Amino acid sequence: MTGVIKGTGASVPSRILENKELENLVETSGAWIQERTGIERRHIAVRETTVSMAAEAAAEALKEAELQPEQIDMILVSTMSPEEIMPCTACQVQREIKASRAVCFDLSAACSGFVMAYVTACAYIEAGIFQNILVIGSECLSDVTDWSDRGTCILFGDGAGAVVLTAAEEPGYLPSIYSDGSKGEALTLKSRQNHNPFGKEAPGESQGTSYYIEMDGQAIFKFAVRSIPQAIEEVLQKNHLHKGDIQYYVLHQANERIVEAVAKRLGEPAYKFPMNMKEYGNTSSASIPLLLHEMKEKNMLKSGDRLVLAGFGGGLTWGTAIITWK
Ligand code: COA
Repeated sequence: MTGVIKGTGASVPSRILENKELENLVETSGAWIQERTGIERRHIAVRETTVSMAAEAAAEALKEAELQPEQIDMILVSTMSPEEIMPCTACQVQREIKASRAVCFDLSAACSGFVMAYVTACAYIEAGIFQNILVIGSECLSDVTDWSDRGTCILFGDGAGAVVLTAAEEPGYLPSIYSDGSKGEALTLKSRQNHNPFGKEAPGESQGTSYYIEMDGQAIFKFAVRSIPQAIEEVLQKNHLHKGDIQYYVLHQANERIVEAVAKRLGEPAYKFPMNMKEYGNTSSASIPLLLHEMKEKNMLKSGDRLVLAGFGGGLTWGTAIITWK
C-alpha cells in the first residue's frame, strides 16, 4: 500500500515583480539575474498570505481528487514563512477549507520541505494510519527577504502548491532523505526572540535588526550540484530502477544552472528536467508542487509515468522520492 496523487492545485499572488523592477532596489541588472539564475519574474504577495495561498491550492487539489474536505484525514504543510508560529499553518488551512476531521501540523525543512512532507504522508498511509492526506508547500518569502541584499532578494518568490494523496493497493518506493546540521550556517532564517530574565540576550533587539534569509550562495550552489545527483542515483539503486525508467526529474526550482548541472552529472537529457523558475523564482517548499501542477495542466504526465522529486536547502537538508503518476 502507498499514497498516490489524486489531485493537484496551485496558487500564486497576482502581483508580478519583473527583474527590471529590482534594478530600482539593489545594484543589479535584469540581464544578470536572468543569466545567472534563469529567473525573469516572480509573484509577490500583496493581499495573499501563506494561509490563503495554501487554502486555495488545497481546494483545487481536493476538487480534482473528488473528495470532500471532511474526508481528509491529515493536513501537512511545509513552510518556512508561516504567518504565525502558533496556530500552525496546517490548522489555519483546516479552518479555511473546513476539513473538520483532519489532524494538522507543519513541517519545517526549508526548500526540501515538500519532499519531506510527501515522504512523511506516504509513511502514514503505508502504516495504515490514514487514507487521504493533503500535502501542501506554501511560502510568503517576500516577508522574510532582505530587500537590500542583492545576493538573495533577486531569487525568491511567493506561492503555494498542494497534492492530495490517497491510499492505493500498490507498492511504494523507498525515499532517500538526508540532513547535515553541521553545515546549517550556509543558509539561515533566524527567528526573533525576546530576552528572558535569566540572562539570555535578545539578538533582534541588541543588534537593532530583524531577521531575514542569509545565504552563502556559492556554498549552496556546490552543495546542490554535488548532493542531488548522488541522492538520485541512490534512490534509483534502492528501488532497483534505472534512469531509463524515469520520465521526469522534478527538482526544486532554485537556479536553472543548478538543474542543468544535475542533468549533466547524471548524463540525462535536459528535456527530462522541466523548469518554471523563470516565472516564479525560488518559492522554496512550494516549487515542486507548483511545477507538478503545471506539468499536469500542460498534459505532460500520463498514467504510469515514473517521476523523481528532489529537494535541497536549509538545514542543510536534501532528499529524493519516486512517484508513479496516477
Ligand atoms: N546582481 C549583479 N551582480 C551580482 C549580484 C546581483 N544580484 N549578486 C552577486 N553579484 C556579483 C558579485 O558581487 C560578484 O562580483 P565580483 O566578481 O565583482 O565579486 C559576481 O556577481 C559573481 O558573484 P557570485 O556570488 O560568484 O555569483 P554566482 O554566479 O554564484 O551567482 C547566486 C550568485 C546567488 C545566483 C548563485 O550563487 C546561486 O544561485 N546559488 C544558489 C543559491 C540558492 O539556490 N539558494 C537557495 C537554495 S534552496
